[in-house]
Amino acid sequence: MSTYPTGKRKKIGTPKIASKSKSDKDPSSYVLRMLLNASPYYVSGSVLAQKLKMSRVGVWSRIDKLRKAGLTIEASQNLGYRLAGEPNALNLPLLNAWMKDNKKFCDIFTHDEVDSTNSEVERLLANGFKSPFAVLSNEQKKGRGRLGRIWHSPKGGNIYLSLGFRPNIQAIHLRNFTLWQGLNICRFLRLFMGTENIGVKWPNDIYYEGKKLAGMLTEASIDSESIKTLIFGIGLNVNTHTRQFPKSIAKYSISMQSIKGEQIRIHELAAKLIKVILTGYKDCMSKNLEKDLISGWTEVDELSGKKIKVQCGKEIFSGNASGIDKNGNLLLKLRNGRVRKIHGGEIEIL
Ligand code: BTN
Repeated sequence: MSTYPTGKRKKIGTPKIASKSKSDKDPSSYVLRMLLNASPYYVSGSVLAQKLKMSRVGVWSRIDKLRKAGLTIEASQNLGYRLAGEPNALNLPLLNAWMKDNKKFCDIFTHDEVDSTNSEVERLLANGFKSPFAVLSNEQKKGRGRLGRIWHSPKGGNIYLSLGFRPNIQAIHLRNFTLWQGLNICRFLRLFMGTENIGVKWPNDIYYEGKKLAGMLTEASIDSESIKTLIFGIGLNVNTHTRQFPKSIAKYSISMQSIKGEQIRIHELAAKLIKVILTGYKDCMSKNLEKDLISGWTEVDELSGKKIKVQCGKEIFSGNASGIDKNGNLLLKLRNGRVRKIHGGEIEIL
């Protein structure tokens, strides 16, 4: 359970609600938006009743439903209601409340359990569901990573998130999509966590002080040179303890909670992360990002200047990592001084 700050026991009259989004139609999301906007203060029951066009008893039973879903909502006879804490388990109304206006651009699906959120997005795209949209799950039974690996996805407390897009543009325009997302997600996580010690290990890992915090997996279907569907998945260790992972992984992994020393508000984090990914996608579709990517990469490059070993199929190269080129290749400075462009493979820091 993560908590919300406690404020003076002040009652809020009518908090400002930004322009109407689809989520406003759901009374639970509406109540939660009002409570979030007012936080850490209270919202009076009569204001909620008036806004929702329901009786105060109706408001109380709505609040009761949210409590049963795991939200901590404090009530005071004189002051009204206040959001005091949230569970790790996904709560769609709370996620929609945090999404604010972004809900208009992106539908969200939450699950208690799926095989893989990337697979679920793939099915929704195949069924013609309007894109973009996001799928989140509390647990994945067959979470997958890069190079055919398993992504261990224990229940509750982590983010397993995938977004589905239909870009319909030439593949070359999206060749740096994962790196661009990595750069922006890293910048966002640094701000969210208040630390500069988060970096990106080319091409798809987010690291904190040498330990893996998140992994990204992009999958696309291409039809005669143009990308028809694009799936971007991210697994982020948030409120779990690394002892929940198999021993072999636990040593090399870290979670946001262990960095911060306190529980993270996972709904706020997920909603903001979805926004970052949607913006990153729009950037890739509308601009030439080569220069921004190369210069931005130097800020977040986890490998910069480090001695590394790269396994590309049966070949192994070692040298010093020296940034990326405009096509997103990793530049490896070999011992003989030549620079080799690496398109893919397994990277090990020596
Ligand atoms: C990696 O580090 O190899 C990439 C890991 C990607 C994991 C995420 S979790 C959400 C989405 N669903 C999956 O099955 N995989 C991605």
